[in-house]
Amino acid sequence: MKLAVSILVTDYDEEETIARINETTADYLHVDVTDGSFVSQRTPQRDFLHTSKKPLNVHLMVSRPFDYISMFKELQAESITIQAELEDDLNSLLDYIHELGMKCGLALCPKTSVSAVEEYANKLDEVLILSVTPGVGGQKMIESTLDKIEELENLREKEGYQFKIFVDGGVNGETIGKIRGADAVIVGSFICKSEDYQAQIDKLGL
Ligand code: DX5
Ligand code: ZN
Repeated sequence: MKLAVSILVTDYDEEETIARINETTADYLHVDVTDGSFVSQRTPQRDFLHTSKKPLNVHLMVSRPFDYISMFKELQAESITIQAELEDDLNSLLDYIHELGMKCGLALCPKTSVSAVEEYANKLDEVLILSVTPGVGGQKMIESTLDKIEELENLREKEGYQFKIFVDGGVNGETIGKIRGADAVIVGSFICKSEDYQAQIDKLGL
């Protein structure tokens, strides 16, 4: 299972957090973006994302994703995931991300069912299962959301889709044991609110 480290909640400033993640075995840097509209929180401006040695796995929890896509292209992001609940033309947004040479994904809020991604699944590189309420790090995992892993696996197998399954929120040394079948986990506070990032990563036993 691959690991993306989320910098939403950390004991260090942004520059130090990214420098610490650079020294670990993590596969991606997960960048959460909130706009005060899709969720009430607003993430601070990020100034050091260009210092990441890990590919950027961007998660836009925003009402108007289009406004952010070119900025992350400039930062050479590997992938951009947007929320499946948006009423925008998701097909156009996903195609635009692909046209710019990045991977695209859809994220499902805890209450959103897998059926919300079916229409787009043939073009998705990633489906992100939010296992906590979006917008805040350090929450307890809503374990019932993990049922979606198997549903997505079945859909992928039946239709021959290629998307990877990510689980995001409340993953720690205990809850990791409940996650089976996902291709990647996104882990924030369990790693970034500690002194020794690699020691925490090792506890995940990925
Ligand atoms: C929640 C974010 C997650 C979160 C993960 O809205 O999408 O990426 O930061 O942080 P932890 O691991 O602390 O739940
Ligand atoms: Zn996220």
